[in-house]
Amino acid sequence: MQQRPRRNRKSPAVRALVRETVLTPGDLIYPLFMHGGDDDQLIDSMPGCGRWSVEGLVREAGEAHALGIPAVVLFPVVPEDAKSPGAEECYNPDGLVPRAVRALKSAHPGLAVITDVALDPYNSDGHDGIVRRSGGELEVLNDETVEVLCRQALCHAQAGADMVAPSDMMDGRVAAIRGALDEEGHEPVSILSYAAKYASAYYGPFRGALESAPKEGDKKTYQMDPANVREAVREALLDEGEGADILMVKPAGPYLDVIAAVRESTALPVAAYQVSGEYLMIKCTAASGWLEERAVVMESLAGIRRAGADMILTYFAKDVAKWLG
Ligand code: PBG
Repeated sequence: MQQRPRRNRKSPAVRALVRETVLTPGDLIYPLFMHGGDDDQLIDSMPGCGRWSVEGLVREAGEAHALGIPAVVLFPVVPEDAKSPGAEECYNPDGLVPRAVRALKSAHPGLAVITDVALDPYNSDGHDGIVRRSGGELEVLNDETVEVLCRQALCHAQAGADMVAPSDMMDGRVAAIRGALDEEGHEPVSILSYAAKYASAYYGPFRGALESAPKEGDKKTYQMDPANVREAVREALLDEGEGADILMVKPAGPYLDVIAAVRESTALPVAAYQVSGEYLMIKCTAASGWLEERAVVMESLAGIRRAGADMILTYFAKDVAKWLG
């Protein structure tokens, strides 16, 4: 036999030499939930994840950073009485996110802090944009929403965020946010764009964690149809043209072909978000003893890297960094 592919798998040393994809803690972004209270809470819908106080958040982010994780992304729980149809709380300079950003940057200056830009935690309707009802029909307004997103992004930049991550899927928001940031002297603030974000059922546990599910209707008029991949490339190229620095695909595991297609179509770095439902499927199956958690997590992340993602947002980030350590 002339070809014996098994020779390249014969020992850990040889396997290390021929390995095509590597994962390091430097590839990971750690999503963190937080609330305005003083206590650190466990999230029922996402075992292993906390809903942190600002103090707890600073501690948790510090541990992650010490393990080599370069960045965190923040998601606030906003109390019902601070929510409104216009989502004004999202650009309150004394709001939870700006306070958390300031605390994180002063405690861990070398940690990159990324903020989510979308209205759903602040919007009494639970949608990512401003809602208008006409004749019983619910409409999520695009251009009105983009104006609010710009104010939100600016508020995060003023607090010291390294990157803003618009996750709302409104049209034209990357260009508008870039313009608003530059006008105020925030040229160094990056835009990590959720370029191809699907209307996915895998976000269920996240919405439970933030109490941010839409009160009415669904997100299908702005988030993408899971059946489409060419449309993802179109969205990615638009965001690149509008000035995005990094393009994201979300969810990750069920959308590996989308990650590969976006990777092929751009020279920008590509991020992928292993979302709450993907996390929970592994967590629950491992808890029942049916799967080996560590091995399955590492395999799921290897798949996402192999598909072409440079960086991965994952709730497993801290565990993974420890395992790699
Ligand atoms: C909000 C947002 C969502 C997620 C991240 N940002 C939920 C949604 O769009 O409904 C989901 C993350 C996850 O499921 O882990 N714009």
